[in-house]
Order: sequence, then structure tokens, then C-alpha cells
Amino acid sequence: MISENKIDAALSQLFSNLKFTDTPANLYDPLRYMISIGGKRIRPKLCLTTYSLYKDTFDETVLQPAAGLEIFHSFTLIHDDIMDRSSLRRGVPTVWTKWGEDGAILSGDVMCIDSYRRMAMAPSSVLTKVLDLFSTTAAEVCEGQQYDMDFEKLPEVSMSEYMKMIGLKTGVLIACSAKMGALIAGASEEICDALYNYGHSLGLAFQVADDYLDAFGDEEVFGKPIGGDILNQKKSWLTVHALEKADPATKASLMSALTMKAETEEDKGEKISIVRNFYTSLRVDEDAKYEILRLNEEALGYASKVCRGLRLETLRRFADKLVGRTK
Ligand code: IPE
Ligand code: IPE
Ligand code: MG
Ligand code: MG
Ligand code: MG
Repeated sequence: MISENKIDAALSQLFSNLKFTDTPANLYDPLRYMISIGGKRIRPKLCLTTYSLYKDTFDETVLQPAAGLEIFHSFTLIHDDIMDRSSLRRGVPTVWTKWGEDGAILSGDVMCIDSYRRMAMAPSSVLTKVLDLFSTTAAEVCEGQQYDMDFEKLPEVSMSEYMKMIGLKTGVLIACSAKMGALIAGASEEICDALYNYGHSLGLAFQVADDYLDAFGDEEVFGKPIGGDILNQKKSWLTVHALEKADPATKASLMSALTMKAETEEDKGEKISIVRNFYTSLRVDEDAKYEILRLNEEALGYASKVCRGLRLETLRRFADKLVGRTK
């Protein structure tokens, strides 16, 4: 096994040494920008963590695919910020607000290509499996993003439709990251599949936490604008659960608050505060915290099918850190 300190050191060395093409600057600068401002890097960390359960040293055949996971994720964020009209990411202006939409689209494209180049550096013994896993995952993320956008136009979606959507837009990439490390380390199919399920449930918990923080987080810490989901009429976990939980009269007034037009900054602030008040009086903020814990336990249930002792402890620590997150 490899210690968490060594994993963190390998990650920071990996990302500080990444080299990208210089010109055209407007194509590659957004890539450099996204990587240099960091982010939590949970996907490459998860990949290196599951790898570390079965190996004692890192080499490029796992480090490069791990970097590819983060570059792919950052690409999806660049396009997501255009789609969500979001102005702030990781505490700094979003790529599309700095370089324009055309620049953000093309830089995102080249990042997606870069991520495939790094995936292809996986050991030849598992290369087909790695590329297959990654391609399937990448297409599923697009499917999830499409459902997310389609749901903005619907008055209401069910909790199972919501869960399916977040499983695709967020769950599968975290699942893929967990499986990939084990796959590259040569773990059995049974282990790889259990770690995929662990990552998937962790990913669901992660997105419910993201939805919670979008309404109740601290913008300084979260690094993204608070209330964006409310203004975009997103079907977040809070919205879906509140509409499910409210009595008919409350549901009708919540529905009209959710669809209220807000053009000026003042109107936007007011809309966010009205909707947030519905959430707190229905106690869906508290329910979200329980749901995150439940999904986390579900993740550990999968991990415990194939891991014991220190290995299971490592996976539990990883999950616990995500549950307590504020950014
Ligand atoms: C943001 O992902 C998008 C979601 C899936 C919620 P992260 O919360 O991992 O973002 P960074 O990479 O740390 O900025
Ligand atoms: C995450 O959904 C999406 C991706 C898979 C890119 P969000 O739209 O909630 O992500 P944030 O909140 O902007 O990071
Ligand atoms: Mg989005
Ligand atoms: Mg977004
Ligand atoms: Mg969000």
C-alpha cells in the first residue's frame, strides 16, 4: 500500500509538472488556467488511492491516466459553465467569461482529446479495458448533462429520475476513477466492479452535497455563485425532495416561487432567499445531510464486499472527507 501523504505528494508533483502546448495561447491558456487554479482533484486522488491498495509505487502508467481524469473533468466544467451561464468557478472567473464562449468550447474540446492521450498511457495489458471504461463514462456524462438541461424545462421530476440524472452527470466519472486505479493495479474483476459501485454511490453523495452547497454554502469557500441552481430552475436534490414533501398548498406556492422571473440583481437575490426559506421550513436542508450520509454508507457497503482492514479504512477515510466538505 501507499500512504495518503505519498499520494498527495505524487498528485501535487504530477499537476505542477504537466506541460501543455504553448500556441495558440487562446487555445491552451484556459487549460493551464483550469489546472493551475486546482480544485479538489478528487477523481485523480481516488484513482491513485484505489491503485495504492494493491501496489507499492506509482509510475507513469497510472499517473498519466489519473491526470487524464482531472483534465477530462475540467473540460466538462468549462462546457458546464457555458451551459449554466455561471460566472465563477474555483473562486475565479469562468473560462467563458474570460475567453468568450467560442474559446471555451474549443479549449474544452482540446482538453477532452488530451485526456484520451493520457488514458492511452495505461499498461498495454489493460489498455482496451481502460479505454472502453473511459469512453463509456464520457458518453454517459454527456447523457447526464443533457437530462440536467432538459429538466430545467420541466415543472417537476421524480426522485428516481433525478438520481438517474446525477448518476450519469457525476456518479459515473467518480465510479470510473475508483475502478481505473484498481484495474491498472491488476486487481480482479470482482474488486474492480465493487470499487466502481463504491465510487458511484460516493458520486451520488457528492452531487447531493453540491446541490446543498449551491443553496446553503459560503461562496468564498465553495468558489461558485450561491443560488445558481435556483435561478436556473435546476431540479436539484433540494427542489425534487421539497416538491415531494410539501403539502398541496405549500407545493403550489413553492412551484410559483421556483418559476418566478428574476431579471435584476435585486430580484435574483430575493428569489434565492424566498426559495431557500421554503427549503428550510420544509427541513429539506437537514434531509439532504442525512441523504449524503446514507449514500456514503451505501458506498462503504460496496467497498466492504471486497476490502478489509487497512484497505477498507482507507476507503472509509476517503468517503468521510467528501461528506464533511464545504467546497
Ligand atoms: C464540480 O466538481 C462538479 C460536480 C460534479 C459537482 P468538483 O466539486 O469536483 O469541482 P472541483 O474540481 O473541485 O473544482
Ligand atoms: C455537474 O453539475 C456537472 C458536470 C458533470 C460537469 P453542476 O452544474 O451542478 O456542477 P457545478 O455546480 O457547476 O460545479
Ligand atoms: Mg450543470
Ligand atoms: Mg454548473
Ligand atoms: Mg452544482
